[in-house]
Amino acid sequence: MKAARLREFEDWFAGYLRPFEGGDEEIRRNTLLKKNHTFRVRTEIIGLGRDLGLPEEDLLLADTLALFHDLGRFEQYFRHRTFVDRDSEDHAVLGVKILEEHQVLDRIDPVERELILKAVSYHNRAVLPDGESSRCLFFTRLLRDADKIDIFKVVTDYYGRKDPSRDRAIELGLPDTPGFSPEVYQALLRKEIVRADRLRNLNDFKLLQVGWVYGLNFSPAFERVRRRGYLDIIRRYLPRTEEIDRIFGMAGDHLLAMS
Ligand SMILES: [Fe+2]
Repeated sequence: MKAARLREFEDWFAGYLRPFEGGDEEIRRNTLLKKNHTFRVRTEIIGLGRDLGLPEEDLLLADTLALFHDLGRFEQYFRHRTFVDRDSEDHAVLGVKILEEHQVLDRIDPVERELILKAVSYHNRAVLPDGESSRCLFFTRLLRDADKIDIFKVVTDYYGRKDPSRDRAIELGLPDTPGFSPEVYQALLRKEIVRADRLRNLNDFKLLQVGWVYGLNFSPAFERVRRRGYLDIIRRYLPRTEEIDRIFGMAGDHLLAMS
């Protein structure tokens, strides 16, 4: 990727967002939420890429992936008023559709175009597909790590907020009931990523975030999550039980071992 091309993509992105930024209050607020997330994921992916020693052109490619990864979020919210894919549509697939419809990537090298479309479409998958090139999988994993790091920031900022009002878009509409689901707990003991459709309450949602440490790929990503203390923050907002201590003990050990 060339720097000048990325500047064109940034301009296109800014123009694409304009109608959403002129929507009603709810649309404007949620557009801003995802726009800010996009820009922070760009910063994160560049940080990770630099730590991994990527050459400049690959850093620009990584930056492009971050810029476009949640492109489908704006239209998704506009159409369905939710960010929950299973209540609306797959925002990654939607993002690819938008890139294709607007012919955004038509003027770049087809190999690079293919990689961008694939990384965007895979960024939210539970499991990555077999048979992709190692370069495609590398950039997809890098994008997923950068995305997760920023979601850690979003949720921990949210738990620590002063304003007690609740945001359904962040909490996925889950009830704040006591306890947590045994299925979620068991998945974490097996060091597995928790499936979003297993969540029954907010504690499950917080535990799912703890489990993201098992989905990270690159040591600079583990390092960032550890250094920024995201797990310690989430721990404060969960019940004080031995089971939960065990989950955090395991997750913390994993972060340390991998970073
Ligand atoms: Fe996304």
